[in-house]
Amino acid sequence: MLKTEHEALVNHGGLKGIIMCQYRAKYALIFLLLATSGLMFLLRNILTLEKLGWQNSSRAAFAQMRPAPPYQTHTFCSHLGLEPTPDEGLEDRYLLKAIAWPKLPARPAPAPLYQTSDPVHSLLTILPSKGQKEWHVGDQLEALVHMHDFQGSPKRHGGDFLVARLHSPVLGAGVAGKVVDHLNGSYSALFPLLWGGSAQVTITMVHSSEAVAVLQRLREERPNRVFFKSLFRSGELSQTTTCIPCLPPNYPQQPLCNYTNLHTGEPWYCLKPELLSCDTRINHVMGGYEKPLFTNQEALLFQSRINIKVIIHTSGPDRINVLPQKIDETELES
Ligand SMILES: *[C@@H]1O[C@H](CO)[C@@H](O)[C@H](O)[C@H]1NC(C)=O
Ligand SMILES: *[C@@H]1O[C@H](CO)[C@@H](O)[C@H](O)[C@H]1NC(C)=O
Ligand SMILES: *[C@@H]1O[C@H](CO)[C@@H](O)[C@H](O)[C@H]1NC(C)=O
Repeated sequence: MLKTEHEALVNHGGLKGIIMCQYRAKYALIFLLLATSGLMFLLRNILTLEKLGWQNSSRAAFAQMRPAPPYQTHTFCSHLGLEPTPDEGLEDRYLLKAIAWPKLPARPAPAPLYQTSDPVHSLLTILPSKGQKEWHVGDQLEALVHMHDFQGSPKRHGGDFLVARLHSPVLGAGVAGKVVDHLNGSYSALFPLLWGGSAQVTITMVHSSEAVAVLQRLREERPNRVFFKSLFRSGELSQTTTCIPCLPPNYPQQPLCNYTNLHTGEPWYCLKPELLSCDTRINHVMGGYEKPLFTNQEALLFQSRINIKVIIHTSGPDRINVLPQKIDETELES
């Protein structure tokens, strides 16, 4: 690798010398050809070097690291960062509370696919308006979802990730619904009625509760599930290496570039390129996912058109007609 790089440099230097004799018109074409091929050769070398650096040294080195043990603290890597200030601690807790999600009931082994949530067997019902026969702008619409598994048995616990929307393709109107998990396999979706005319309810199962549990585990136990790449370049030399935010306790004793933010303590590391220094890093892109992330059984929980982002059917009509806002009688009197 080094040798070809060296040859390229020699070629390049030689060309420069010859190009100075350009006044000999009859050589001009040959020079041009040589220059072009020299440049292409050089470019290819740079690209090859980048590719080799990526595939070989860096990828392999981080791949040797075994997954880090589950972190005791609530956020990964926090043992590497600075202690949060009281304000930051409060914000942390607030954010964690906002994304809190019900845990699956404990069981000896993960549920087989047929016992997990199946949007096709699940049902959505629009509840009749309370006390009235019709809906008006300003009312609240409620829909009830009953989740079932692939065998059609009702689910007895919550945690499915449902997204609810009320919309009118004709009017180009839409509003998000609030989903309330009753933790027993049923969910309420609540919508404000904001426009008059037709309104259609669509509830999508984005992930089953079982899939959410897998994602939760990955978030807590695999802080480096996504790795990054950085390109280092200086002159004609360049190399790409792998970068990760959290250094596992058992990382291989390999030279690293430590880009940890001194202000925030936020950790960031790249493998050091063999021939370049850490301050020659010029970019930063996503590298890919650590493999394997899922067991074969877990992978079944993430099948598009089966249990990712599938619409739940309605029993009965899936749309209502909304009448104009009712005029308050007390307002009429005044
Ligand atoms: C790539 O890996 C192979 C085998 O691990 C090794 O022999 C070779 O020297 C490596 N090349 C580079 C550029 O690191
Ligand atoms: C689930 O919980 C809700 C709210 O507590 C209740 O109204 C509903 O009847 C329950 N459903 C089942 C199947 O137990
Ligand atoms: C990286 O730098 C940070 C900040 O200077 C330091 O706390 C940390 O120990 C360094 N990491 C390694 C592996 O040396």
